[in-house]
Amino acid sequence: MAGIAYVNGAYLRSSNAQVHIEDRGYQFADGIYEVCLVIDGRYWDAEGHLDRMDRSLKELGIRQPMSRASLRTVMAELLTRNRLKDALVYMQVTRGVAPRNHPFPAAGVTPALVMTARRFNLDDNDARAKKGVKIITQPDIRWARVDIKSISLLPNVLAKQAAVEANAVESWLIKDGKVTEGSSSNAWIVDDTGAIITHPKGREILGGITRETAIACARDLQIRVEERPFTLAEAAQAKEVFITAATVLVMPVIAIDGQKVGDGAPGPIAAQLREAYKERARSA
Ligand code: PDD
Repeated sequence: MAGIAYVNGAYLRSSNAQVHIEDRGYQFADGIYEVCLVIDGRYWDAEGHLDRMDRSLKELGIRQPMSRASLRTVMAELLTRNRLKDALVYMQVTRGVAPRNHPFPAAGVTPALVMTARRFNLDDNDARAKKGVKIITQPDIRWARVDIKSISLLPNVLAKQAAVEANAVESWLIKDGKVTEGSSSNAWIVDDTGAIITHPKGREILGGITRETAIACARDLQIRVEERPFTLAEAAQAKEVFITAATVLVMPVIAIDGQKVGDGAPGPIAAQLREAYKERARSA
């Protein structure tokens, strides 16, 4: 990837940037990450992402790499140096570098922080939302703490690859007959009363920041929100289906496992929520 990356205190050309071979992220996936959307030079839902980053670090006992104010400075500097106004910013913190050994290294190891930015095209994303996307389903074979935004994403990678091979953009993960979430997004349906349903927060899903904002938007729009697990059969009968994430905002789904959702076109509730989400995130 071209551009400038922040790597452990330095701004480097990505092509020259290096991390140590004994970084625990590389050897054990011992780290966490965040993906933040930037539109017109402004981070959307940044506080939510930084709060979740603090939580993930705390859950894994990894030290904060720097204060929030310093993180904000790096986030801003990264955009300036890459001359980006619309971007997806990736932040990763690992426990640091130490000779390979499973237990945490002795206190004093410095967490490693890497940040990259890549261009995001909101118009393309909007165009995709007008058409809607197709998804498939896969078994949820992940560990029992997916509420932590860990960089250990192999099951998610396999599920996403299965989607790509089926000409779809996402896999919904199925556990005990219920849809938990997507491989890199939260999962939603609209029932025949017009209520929206999404899996409750807890250890079985990642508490999406876009999900939180979408719930707030729905409440503003007087759309009823039910936070409960739902089945694939309910999704098959749903009036609308959509996914949320920083990378897709609110994205309508038009087919699941090759079966049309509703009449096979994006529905009004997802469209309304997408617009409301954009408004809210812009003014946050
Ligand atoms: N993923 N669930 C999973 C498993 C995710 O990986 C993501 C985001 C979400 C949505 O979270 P948010 O609304 O905070 O983006 C839910 C990022 C975008 C990624 O891995 O690229």
